[in-house]
Formats: sequence, structure tokens, C-alpha cells
Amino acid sequence: MCGIVGFSSHEKSACEPLVNGLRRLEYRGYDSAGVALESADGIKVVKQRGKVAELDKLLKEELATEDERAKYTVGIAHTRWATHGLPTTVNAHPHIADDGNLALVHNGIIENYATLRAGLEKRGCKFVSQTDTEVLAHLVATFDKGDFLSAVSHALKQVEGTYGIATISRRHPGEMVVARKGSPLVIGIGEHETVVASDVSAIVAYTRQVIYLKDGDIALVTPDGVSIYSLDNAPVSREVQEVDWDLGAIEKGGFDHFMLKEIFEQPDALRNTIRGRLDKSGATAILAGLNLTPRDLASFRRVAIIGCGTSLHAGMVGKYLFEKLADMPTSPEQAAEFRYCNPIIGPDNWIVALSQSGETADTLAAVRESIRKGALVSGLCNVVGSTIAREAGRGVYLHAGPEISVASTKAFTAQVTALLMSALKLGRTRRLSYSEGARLVDEIERIPELVGEVLKQNERIAEVAAKYAKADDMFFIGRGILYPTALEGALKIKEVAYVHAEGYQAAELKHGPIALLSEETPVVALLADIPGKEKTVGNVQECRARNAPVIGICSEGDSAAAEHVNDAIFVPKTSEEVAPIVSVVALQLFAYHVARLRGCEIDQPRNLAKSVTVE
Ligand code: AGP
Ligand code: GLU
Repeated sequence: MCGIVGFSSHEKSACEPLVNGLRRLEYRGYDSAGVALESADGIKVVKQRGKVAELDKLLKEELATEDERAKYTVGIAHTRWATHGLPTTVNAHPHIADDGNLALVHNGIIENYATLRAGLEKRGCKFVSQTDTEVLAHLVATFDKGDFLSAVSHALKQVEGTYGIATISRRHPGEMVVARKGSPLVIGIGEHETVVASDVSAIVAYTRQVIYLKDGDIALVTPDGVSIYSLDNAPVSREVQEVDWDLGAIEKGGFDHFMLKEIFEQPDALRNTIRGRLDKSGATAILAGLNLTPRDLASFRRVAIIGCGTSLHAGMVGKYLFEKLADMPTSPEQAAEFRYCNPIIGPDNWIVALSQSGETADTLAAVRESIRKGALVSGLCNVVGSTIAREAGRGVYLHAGPEISVASTKAFTAQVTALLMSALKLGRTRRLSYSEGARLVDEIERIPELVGEVLKQNERIAEVAAKYAKADDMFFIGRGILYPTALEGALKIKEVAYVHAEGYQAAELKHGPIALLSEETPVVALLADIPGKEKTVGNVQECRARNAPVIGICSEGDSAAAEHVNDAIFVPKTSEEVAPIVSVVALQLFAYHVARLRGCEIDQPRNLAKSVTVE
């Protein structure tokens, strides 16, 4: 789930690149961190529960002088998000075997670890941790008969589950072996140094030339480069690609938190999502990556949009867009549920897989199941080269830039924008008229500017947040296309401010949850001036009649709606299709300010990981 970094050079110390790399991966959420460094004298492991800054301190205590640090030119490092065993120092990676001569870090889960561990224990291996990972370290050591790469591939053949690994051994100086199955690994090719990481953001400080490993790849990494093989030892060739963003994109740039930076980046991010994708003369969208002809599009009978968390909420907005603009029956599906419910899908179904990271295990599994069942699958991902994007084989990249904050913000608005363009394109192959298409093209073009207008409300939103920051329970209500926005608003405040919050269809509140309302339970109502607003105003009255204070996200100039709420936050008036985007930005800022006032760790909320690569 979390972070791997590896560094290999002839003369440069690995200490700093490893710790810097871990710092870049901190955003993914983790509970412990560690490094293993190799020198001619052996392997040194330093690890502990807690933050990378503490690990760095410990490392500097243990290797106090430049000379000591300079000895170690090869190393691996890890941030752990515990799946098997408590987040303790002993369970932190790297794990060692072969009397301390081998060290290994791992992301993912070894499903058959108990059986493997029992077998290894019988052969005399001593285990010190509760993790599934330690099994891998012992297995590799057991198979090591002189060829490191084949020892690792033998070990991996015994394994069921998912892994991204990096391992070093004193018996094979200067060699690092890395491999992946279901957990990402990228190799950065520098000048006389090679950097490995589970995420490209740990690499860009050193090089922008990268190779994305594919599932089933195993690679021998040295300071001079990399050779890649299949687990059966057949050489494979992987393209070297250039990362198209730089360090600035993954730094805070003057903002207190990545979450705030990313909220404010939305106008630019959305400009990038839209750029080159609108066809004014045809009143449609150009989504070349979908690689679908109008005839292909016309042949679909049903769309399913699959995702988890925020991506699922974007998919729920997608349902309204596809049904309204393209008359296409569309179901948003939670990826894990979809995958295991034996979905009824076939060649005339279009499955759109939504994932910021492109690595979410449940979404990836649903993609594979859909491909197996003969559906046409496309990805809608932000991370270029990610597994879902590659396996889907076709799709739309969001181009929203790296999203570092665990709580997703700009990816959501970019996803909704990309879905709107997809619905427009699909609609224009069906019943959507030229004039309606042209209206939408204009609306989409204006999205970045409209989002910029919402950002101007930051101070007002902070003021409203201050009034309600002490509440421990909140409700978010919305109707129709704004219902998923209510869910997303509730999710944001749960994630970053640890406020218990529930999103409901506005009309549903009176069927039970209204029992929970009191003067201490604020209700955030999505009241943008689009069809259905009057009905939501009625629901707001019901809440106020139970003394619940109501915060309204209203359209600019709609004083009639604002009169019904205790505190109004105004967003620009837009069409129905764009209302979720402008409304959600206000809710992102609201969650951010509530979290700040509650003193929460905004960018790395407790218990969460940025990309959930386990089922
Ligand atoms: C969003 O704020 C969450 N951290 C989470 O729900 C996330 O959206 C979900 O895990 C899906 O991630 P993905 O878009 O990378 O697939
Ligand atoms: N399953 C391993 C553990 O619990 C790896 C966790 C991770 O991916 O960080 O140690």
C-alpha cells in the first residue's frame, strides 16, 4: 500500500536519496519507516514506528559522520501501512534474513504467508515479526544459490497475493532486485545512479527518465541501469518514458497544506483536463484516447461507471450526465461490490473505470472481471502509466497534475469534467442536438473560470466553518445531480476533520435520519439554482423546524433560497451539469477549514492511505 524507495550508485551515499524519497511518499499515509543500507562491511538496518523525520534523526545518530554515510551507496527504504501485524518497530520494513545478510521491503499482501511461514519455520528459519512480508525475505534467502535474481524469482513463484518489492543482499554487492505484481514500481534511470520507487514523485528529483514495470516483471538494478525479465527468466523490454512534470508540482508552493494547494490548483488543473478536447464546430468532445468510433459508441446499450470513494461519487454524477445527455442507462458501481456480484455485462456494455491513482485494487479487479466478461473497458485515471490506465488499454487521462493530499479534491472535479465531456461525445452520437451540444461546449469551457469564482469565497467559507467547527455530527443533503456532491462533502469532512458526517438524498432525511437532528447537528444543504431546488428548500424547512442550523450552498444572487438557511455560501449560477463542480469546491474548502480549526493532520489523515492497493 505504501512506499518503496531504492537507490544504487557507485560513489554517492544512498542515505539522503532514500530519506528524501520517503519524504516524497509521506503523503500516501503510513505508520512506520525504515532503511537498509549496504556496504562492504554488511547491511545496516534502521527502522522505527513513526514519521520519516524521526527515522532521519535516528539514521544521523547511527551514522554520524559524512565518511560513515559515504560507505553506503546502495540501499532500500520503506514506509509501511500495516496490513499484517501492529504498526510496531519490529513489524516495520525492511525485514531481514540470512543472518542479517539480506534485507527486503514489500508493499502488498502475501495471501499464503501462513503456510509458507510454517514451512520455513520447520526448516529452521527464525521469525521476529508478525508480518506477511518477513516470509518473503526468508524465502529469497533459502533459494539463494549464487544468483540473486533467480533466487527472488523462485521465491516469488511460491507466493500468492500482491507485491512490489525491493531487496539487497551482502552476498551480491551492488545488486538490487525489484519486482511487482499488483503494486506499482517505477525505475528512474539517472547518470550512474538508479532510483527505484513505488511512485514517480520519489524519483523526479533525480531523473525524469523512467521505466514503469508491469505485473510479473522482475528487474536487476545496478548503478548503471536495469535489466528486466519475466519470472521465468525471459528478458523483457520496457520503454523508457519521460515524466512530463517537475518537482514544483509536488511541493506545497507557499500553501500550508497540499489539500489547500490542490483545491486552489483546480482552475489550472481543469484547464488541462479540457485542453484540446472540445470541438466547437461539431459541438462535441474529442476524446482520442477512448479510441471509439461513432459506430462503437452507438452500439452500447448500457454504461457502468466503477470506482471507490471519491471516484465512486464522481461516477454517481456521471450517471446523471450519461442518462440526461445521452439517454444511456448508466449505473455507478462500487468496484468491489461490482466485481463480486457476478455482474451481468457483455459486449454492448461500456465500463468506465474511474481512479485518480489508477492503482486501487478493487477497481483494478473490477476492470479485469469486466474484460474477462467481454465488455468494453476504458480508464479515467489521473496517474499516467498507472495499472488501470494500462490494463484498460484505452481511456481519458485527467491531466490534473499530481494529487498529493490523501483527500482527493482536484481529481474529483477533473473526473466530473471528463465524464461530462464523455457524456457530450456519447450524446452527440445519439439524440443530443447540435444546439444542446454547443451550449455544453460553452459551459465546459467556462468551468475553470467558474471554479476560480468559488475560490474567491475562501474567507467567507472559513468564517462559516469557524461557526460550526465544534460540531461532532453533520448531515449533507442534495437532490438529483447534487446528491453525489452531498456524499462527497460528507466524505471530505470525515476524512480530514474527523467529523461524523452523513450524505443523504434531501428527500430521504425525513424517512428516519431526521430523528438525529438537533441544534447541535448542522445540515449542509446543496441549494444551487437548478431544477429540484424548491423541493430541497422544503427539506431545509423540515430541518430547521427541528432546530438544526442549515448552511446553504446557494447560487449567486439567489436571495430567495438564501433566506431559508442560517448561513449561505454563494457559488456562481451554472447549468445543472456544472452545478456539482462549483458546489463541491465550496464543500472542499469547508472541510479544509473545519479540519484546520480542529487541529487535524490534514494531508495525512489517520488510518488512511492515498492509494488503496489491497482489497
Ligand atoms: C478520497 O478523498 C479518498 N482518499 C478515497 O476515497 C479515494 O477516492 C479512493 O480510495 C479511490 O482512489 P482512486 O481514485 O485513486 O482509485
Ligand atoms: N503487508 C505488509 C505489512 O503489513 C506490507 C504493508 C504495506 O504495503 O505497507 O507489513
